[in-house]
Amino acid sequence: MDYENIISEHKEGICYLTINRPKKLNALNSITISELSNAIKQADKDKLVRCIILTGADKKAFVAGADISEFASFDVASGEGLARKGQEMLFDLLEKIGTPSIAAINGFALGGGLELAMAAHIRIASENAKMGLPEVSLGVIPGYGGTQRLTNLVGKGKAMEMITTAGMLSANEAKEWGLVNYVCSQEDLISMSEKIASKIKRNSPMAIARAIKSVNAGFITGVDGFEVEKEEFGNCFGTPEFIEGTTAFMEKRKPNF
Ligand code: COA
Repeated sequence: MDYENIISEHKEGICYLTINRPKKLNALNSITISELSNAIKQADKDKLVRCIILTGADKKAFVAGADISEFASFDVASGEGLARKGQEMLFDLLEKIGTPSIAAINGFALGGGLELAMAAHIRIASENAKMGLPEVSLGVIPGYGGTQRLTNLVGKGKAMEMITTAGMLSANEAKEWGLVNYVCSQEDLISMSEKIASKIKRNSPMAIARAIKSVNAGFITGVDGFEVEKEEFGNCFGTPEFIEGTTAFMEKRKPNF
């Protein structure tokens, strides 16, 4: 499928999604959000895709935020609508799908850009990356899940500091704060992401999807993550991948999922 603002490529079980508006530092306008949403749904449906790697075109930015020019004249209702629609279409979708995703943060990840990276399951940053939620400097707050996901990832005190100061973290600071898992050179960013993807690819996609669901359940108000885990644990039994995984172990061979 042809897209205007993203590039979607599949290679050896990995779907590479590149946000491709470099002249606007890959800012998320409505077309880009809709294209990403479609591409993520397609990738999640495709049984050959075992991992998604999300990155930004060029060296300067992953995504420099939601496109400010699109919402500068919005009123209360359209502002709330923007947050609701965006969260549902893209950010919640990315977090909830059973296909694991890696955000390869290659430069500025600000506002909606950091929110997108935080909705992914794993984050890796290149040394030049800068991350922040600068919304309060624009007279608005993070609206694509940033107040919640940042708090879940780094804790309330650090999230409060990042959000209220509108400051940016370097890649190494982000790693120290637990916001990213690894930091590497820009040249190594995709190969490092592929290394993690290759470990993921050895495992059962069915079990991975159930594990993602169970981890996420602990962050949903009113849902008991332990209960979801018990149920999803049970649901693995008797499935072809469970049979293959346990049989392969007993036959002292590698499973073929
Ligand atoms: N929305 C819309 N356009 C954006 C954008 C955004 N979030 N971020 C960058 N751009 C555009 C700029 O307007 C500029 O477009 P132009 O060349 O047509 O004027 C282009 O991308 C390049 O950005 P520029 O600001 O010239 O680059 P810089 O190197 O001087 O600064 C940043 C880089 C990231 C510090 C700066 O672009 C910035 O602060 N962006 C906004 C970040 C933000 O507040 N994000 C949260 C939004 S809710």
